[in-house]
Amino acid sequence: MTMTARVSTGPILHDRDFRRVQKHLYEHAGIHLSDGKKPLVASRLLSRLKASGLSTYADYIDHTLDNPESAEHQALIDSLTTNETYFFREPEHFTFLEQLLAEHRNKKHWRIWSGASSTGEEIYSLAMVLADHLGLNGQWEVVGTDLSHKVIAEAVRGHYPMSRHEGISLQRLKRYCLKGVGPQEGTLLIDDALKRHVRFSIRNLMQSTRSEERYDIIFLRNVMIYFNNASKQTVLNNVLRQLKVGGYFFISHTESLMNTTHRLEPVKSSIYRLTE
Ligand SMILES: C[S@@+](CC[C@H](N)C(=O)[O-])C[C@H]1O[C@@H](n2cnc3c(N)ncnc32)[C@H](O)[C@@H]1O
Repeated sequence: MTMTARVSTGPILHDRDFRRVQKHLYEHAGIHLSDGKKPLVASRLLSRLKASGLSTYADYIDHTLDNPESAEHQALIDSLTTNETYFFREPEHFTFLEQLLAEHRNKKHWRIWSGASSTGEEIYSLAMVLADHLGLNGQWEVVGTDLSHKVIAEAVRGHYPMSRHEGISLQRLKRYCLKGVGPQEGTLLIDDALKRHVRFSIRNLMQSTRSEERYDIIFLRNVMIYFNNASKQTVLNNVLRQLKVGGYFFISHTESLMNTTHRLEPVKSSIYRLTE
């Protein structure tokens, strides 16, 4: 018996096209996608390919990379970034921040920036700590930026499934969050009183800025893992020019500043201070 049934296959991401995406993401965002990420890229771009109505990855990639200002280009970047985050991630950092605030209790004006704030949990965790110490009427501000428009939109909403609340103490939940009722049941919303101290915007850390804003503390956690040494150095140069001398710089415990040059002195594991 001869079998002639056709095997149907979907679009195939060819090596040549994967390499174009790899090169583009590196040049645009500093993100290094290893060769092992090809299946992941194929699966994440498949939904974009379908939504665009094009039939091959090659056509989709041609169309999208040729239009870097387009919404589709942003959607491609959004779909290829890893946005995992949670409230009070790496709690030792928040404990250290509390100690700092207690040591400098006469300092009333604090500005903190998270350069890869993702969907906002890190920013709202920082804001809760500052609000505890300085009050909701205090003079402090937390700024979150990220490359991805999608995550910034989510951060601005500050509306999360209740299952994400782990890490927020009951006291802080009551003080700074609203519990969804009716159709919003099972969700939590960050209270406007806390949001008033928080600002989000889009920013690609690979691009330098003319901003004169300076911060007392910068969090740059769980983003340098996607960079090679060259991108890491570019990002560090861009970020550290906005840290005040004597200001604190936090990275993740899983990251390192090895093979980079900077004026930071270690304070504690994954926490540094900018010297003159
Ligand atoms: C894994 S999340 C880290 C979130 C948070 N900092 C934490 O530690 O939980 C990494 C974030 O870095 C952002 N990102 C990657 N490359 C970036 C770049 N070049 N400029 C700004 N943000 C970038 C991604 O969009 C993503 O939201």
